[in-house]
Amino acid sequence: MSGVACVVLAAGKGTRMRSAVPKVLHPLAGRPMVEHVLANARSLSPERTVLVIGPELEAAGFGPDGAAGGVRCVVQAEPLGTAHAVAQARPLLEDFDGDVIVVYADTPLVRAETLARLVEARRDGEAAAAVLGFRPEDPAEYGRLILASDGTLARIVEHAEAGADERAVTLCNAGTMAIDGRRLFPLLDAIGNENAKGEYYLTDLPAVVAAAGGVCAVAEALAEEVMGINDRAQLAAAERVIQDRLRRAAMEGGATLIDPATVWLSADTRLGADVTIGPNVAIGPGVAVDDGAEIRPFSHLEGVRVRRNAVIGPFARLRPGSDIGEGARVGNFVEVKNSAVEQDAKINHLSYVGDAGVGAGANIGAGTITCNYDGYRKSRTEIGEGAFIGSNTALVAPVTVGPGAVVGAGSVITEDVEADAIAVARGEQRQREGAAARRRSRLRPDGTRD
Ligand code: UD1
Ligand code: CA
Repeated sequence: MSGVACVVLAAGKGTRMRSAVPKVLHPLAGRPMVEHVLANARSLSPERTVLVIGPELEAAGFGPDGAAGGVRCVVQAEPLGTAHAVAQARPLLEDFDGDVIVVYADTPLVRAETLARLVEARRDGEAAAAVLGFRPEDPAEYGRLILASDGTLARIVEHAEAGADERAVTLCNAGTMAIDGRRLFPLLDAIGNENAKGEYYLTDLPAVVAAAGGVCAVAEALAEEVMGINDRAQLAAAERVIQDRLRRAAMEGGATLIDPATVWLSADTRLGADVTIGPNVAIGPGVAVDDGAEIRPFSHLEGVRVRRNAVIGPFARLRPGSDIGEGARVGNFVEVKNSAVEQDAKINHLSYVGDAGVGAGANIGAGTITCNYDGYRKSRTEIGEGAFIGSNTALVAPVTVGPGAVVGAGSVITEDVEADAIAVARGEQRQREGAAARRRSRLRPDGTRD
């Protein structure tokens, strides 16, 4: 969209979260709330984007120099209100004569189309500003939009200031505004802080416009799209909304979700065509599943690429840094971390494979453990192509098992195994003929077996 700039407000205290973590850094679908807002803004291709942060976000690494993707940060040292927060962007926007869209970082579900619609509403009405309104089931503490008889916006009244008849108004303020850039800063200058909270409310802007004989327009959005997140219950409600969107998008993209409501995805999850995901699967950040792969129930994945036609789970855990090759199998109660499992390799049962390479077609027996940590350092295990690791083997890293080698069940392997060799490292089996029968007759006078 041409001629727009975005200002994202993220400097509030977020006290209602009761958290040591700044509110807008709480994740939704594995991505901090503020990043969702910035991503939505980015998809409008604004000419400028300004992120207003407080000291907490600055301490978390956001800052004038650290801002990513062409976003400029400004610091609001004290949270004196939403109008005061927008005013901090003045040095970066004073000369901007397009539409300035203000979005709150705690309202992460607003879609770019809705922002574009808001800008259209302002332009069509030649209004000083357009405000996004919505009708929530529970108007709670939202500001109320008070319309004039001609349908334009007369003023916004904050919940804290509203009388009973104003609170009865069901049209609420979503907090998102598009403002004519040429008029923005003079309007902000006219906003005072004589109100219940002693803050400079951005929501006073429509009344200032009306007092000067101007008009403000209203565009409406769906409640689920503009819900603000102030506390943990609202965070959970927003998570449900975003998960539903991700699930729908995954299915539209050609993945089968057998029970969508129980599959948890991340904002960056990439699923290929004909991927099947069973019930109760959780997918954390950084996961890509290629075409035809299957994730069976109760598996947990993060930071992993699962290649074509691989089968994962049920009950598998794939941890960051892993790459599961085409057609490979990772079965029940198997944990894989920071490991490359190559094409058609099998780790079917009850194993821990960490900091390892598993060659193509290798077979890892039940109960195999890579002992990758000695209490001080992590070390690697390399298992060659086509190797066979017998059940209940401990591979004490650093160690290499060559291609085609066989390791006997129950081994503790501390030295490298050559290609095509058989290695067995366990107590040797001894047999004493008749010893069990002798023992029985000693302990049971009649000598029977049962
Ligand atoms: C605000 C609106 C309210 C609206 C609701 C929608 C105002 C005064 N009120 O209320 O009408 O219905 O959002 O969700 O705008 N922030 C700053 N600096 C500040 C204060 C806030 O950057 O000094 C940021 C916060 O980080 C947050 C956003 O602005 O992202 C909104 O602030 P918040 O305190 O959550 O406002 P609400 O009480 O929810
Ligand atoms: Ca809020």
